[in-house]
Amino acid sequence: MLNFENDPSSIFDLEELHQGNVKSVLFKLEMDSTNDLAVKLLQQNTLKLPAIILTEMQRAGRGRGNNQWITSEGALTFSLVLPPNSQLQLTLLSLVAGLSIVRMLETDYGLQPELKWPNDVLVTEKKIAGILIETKPNGWIVGVGINVNNILSLDSATSLREQLGQQQDLQKTVSRQIQHFYATQTLAFEQPQQFVEQCEKQLAFLGEEIELVSGSQTVIGKLEGLDRSGGLNVQTTTGVQTIHSATRIRPKR
Ligand code: BTN
Repeated sequence: MLNFENDPSSIFDLEELHQGNVKSVLFKLEMDSTNDLAVKLLQQNTLKLPAIILTEMQRAGRGRGNNQWITSEGALTFSLVLPPNSQLQLTLLSLVAGLSIVRMLETDYGLQPELKWPNDVLVTEKKIAGILIETKPNGWIVGVGINVNNILSLDSATSLREQLGQQQDLQKTVSRQIQHFYATQTLAFEQPQQFVEQCEKQLAFLGEEIELVSGSQTVIGKLEGLDRSGGLNVQTTTGVQTIHSATRIRPKR
């Protein structure tokens, strides 16, 4: 399965992406959301996994916690659909996805990214990438949005082009990202302790006072690091709390 609806792409080389671990590549010039299409195809049970679903223009991208993910032209948006894996808990999968983007931005683009737990990626304290993970019984969807060639001119977000001062090759970015995802997943399987340490080293706001919202609870305290399962350790006035999911985290400066 390669080219959905026979759309031509002047940006992506689908044959090149259809290699190694990836068993199917689905491409459409435009679509509402790569995660939505992944959900639909998993329901129909027609996807050979692992699969990549990608588009040049996502019209109705979704972010975490019912947020929208506004995609402007030049952003990279795709979903990696993986077979469910009992070896990897969801918190760790989030961290694998986040750390893999951090490693790509460092090694391939020479930037100094930070991991905003669990899986936003910041450069110069601005968001450059976000991940939306959704799980279905027959497949896990890792939706990735990376600001590559889009010009944002925002205090809260940035792109590779803004950081590096020149246009980037989206095909290279997506294929590097997939390679880093698999390498990071292998590290998490084979050396879980080292993996969590690497995530911790890249953590945004480490050692700082933060405020986070987890369910109906607001937690304020010093971000101490990660526990073995990838949960966030926060030193509060009543002791250390380990947080496993949060909708909002911000430094209390
Ligand atoms: C977030 O930061 O809240 C997560 C953003 C995730 C956006 C990506 S873009 C590709 C995939 N399809 C979607 O609809 N969302 C994810």
